Amino acid sequence: MAARSTHSKILILDFGSQYTQVIARRIRECQVYSEIVRFDTPAREIAALKPNGLILSGGPASVYDKGAPQIDPQIFSLGIPVLGICYGLMLMAHRLGGQVVFTGRREYGAGMLHIRNGSELFEGLGNQLDVWNSHGDEVTALPKGFVAVGTTEGCDFAAVEDRQRKLYGLQFHPEVAHTPRGREILRNFVYHICHCAMDWTMGSFIEEACAHVRKQVGDQKVVLGLSGGVDSSVTAALLHKAIGNQLTCIFVNNGLLRAREEEIVQRVFGENFHVRLKYVDASDRFLALLKGVTDPESKRKLIGNEFIEVFQHATEELLEEDRKNGDRKHGGYKFLAQGTLYPDVIESVSIRGNPAQVIKSHHNVGGLPEKMHFELVEPLRQLFKDEVRQAGLQLGLPKEIVYRQPFPGPGLAVRILGEVTPERLSILREADTIVQSEMEAADWYYKVWQSFAVLLPVQSVGVMGDQRTYENTIVLRIVESQDGMTADWVRLPYELLARISSRISNEVKGVNRVCYDISSKPPSTIEWE
Ligand code: XMP
Repeated sequence: MAARSTHSKILILDFGSQYTQVIARRIRECQVYSEIVRFDTPAREIAALKPNGLILSGGPASVYDKGAPQIDPQIFSLGIPVLGICYGLMLMAHRLGGQVVFTGRREYGAGMLHIRNGSELFEGLGNQLDVWNSHGDEVTALPKGFVAVGTTEGCDFAAVEDRQRKLYGLQFHPEVAHTPRGREILRNFVYHICHCAMDWTMGSFIEEACAHVRKQVGDQKVVLGLSGGVDSSVTAALLHKAIGNQLTCIFVNNGLLRAREEEIVQRVFGENFHVRLKYVDASDRFLALLKGVTDPESKRKLIGNEFIEVFQHATEELLEEDRKNGDRKHGGYKFLAQGTLYPDVIESVSIRGNPAQVIKSHHNVGGLPEKMHFELVEPLRQLFKDEVRQAGLQLGLPKEIVYRQPFPGPGLAVRILGEVTPERLSILREADTIVQSEMEAADWYYKVWQSFAVLLPVQSVGVMGDQRTYENTIVLRIVESQDGMTADWVRLPYELLARISSRISNEVKGVNRVCYDISSKPPSTIEWE
């Protein structure tokens, strides 16, 4: 987004660390805009982006590895402050004539940093700090011009600087929670050394994003597939603020939604926001299509393709309605808005592979833009999820939308193992409603990543009164996670589990057994299909 060039900005060169995005988020928490770029971005491109400072991330390589990621050495002569973290420090020391040794073992864990020589990096932080290490190489001699500003028991050069050239290095990780005062170190870097202004706020973001959207779409019309999830909802609210009735949202009921989902979305967007909302009830089409289908990937494919068909048809109907209403001015719906977020667009650096990206791709029900020749409007492309939520709140969306748990595009179809039928959908919906309401009542709903019910194609024997029963099994899946890539089952209080279990087996007809899934991801996945 061009408007951003007037802001303070920190660029993070990504050498493949698992913490690169954490660094970017920490900087944004300082209300300073940050962006991740590839480690091999040439110095002239970096200079053209006019950053106030650069951070070189950590990474899994040793500077002595064959094919270790390199940096354009001209970067150190741009006059822009540089902070090298872990591998970033090793690379800086190595390139500028210091000595780095490959220790062959990874120092991993907590340590104590003793601060000396009054570095601006540690201003206000006292004489010693708890820090978190995770590195293999070690600096054993400094490049010319550098001094040590922090030592640990095992290392004389745990924090170093060349104040003249504004080059700084930390062997430990200031971005992780295990370095409790790491945020203050990063703050010192961005404010005192890079002289950044605190000009990255959600208020300013929303204003600029609106201006950008207006410029991009002019007086043309935009269509958006509203799912009721956080990302599409915030996109809708933002576009509504930017272009009002030029935006039309299409909400497709595929018959695989949670109970009352269509009501909530229509209430929030139609009644409260007065967004132009086209509600399409395509439940019958989807359910007819899914008849007899049991294979998970076939379900996904059928649902994804059908969604595109339904969406395309709905857009044509919109055009027809516009025509009937005498709106002849426009050539149609040229733009498609999507809730793409920053983690989706960061070009992943594949050093020793980055399987996360590959696993994720199947989750996107893509294909719309290609099939319908839309131009994309993606106002959230720069935001992390927590920033999207902040933006949503500022735009006036209710907490129940902004903090809701993720829900998969193929909906309840991937939570019904085996065939999806109206009867099985209704069993799962009822069970799911009980899970959600008990989680909310016990104040657990917003503390976990996801909490839902799964219906198994397994019947087992039970007893009700004097009667033997032979009914269905519901599994509770309740997990905590940062990003859905890994997850662990939540140690819920037994009383809560007991309440959910007894309500489901008493209230949901057709269920006589409730199980709790105690598998982590990996090796299991969060969804059962
Ligand atoms: P898994 O089951 O792969 O899920 O551990 C990780 C996260 O992704 C969600 N998920 C999906 N989301 N379409 C989606 O939009 C899908 O097909 C899909 N499959 C899984 C899942 O709910 C969890 O948050």
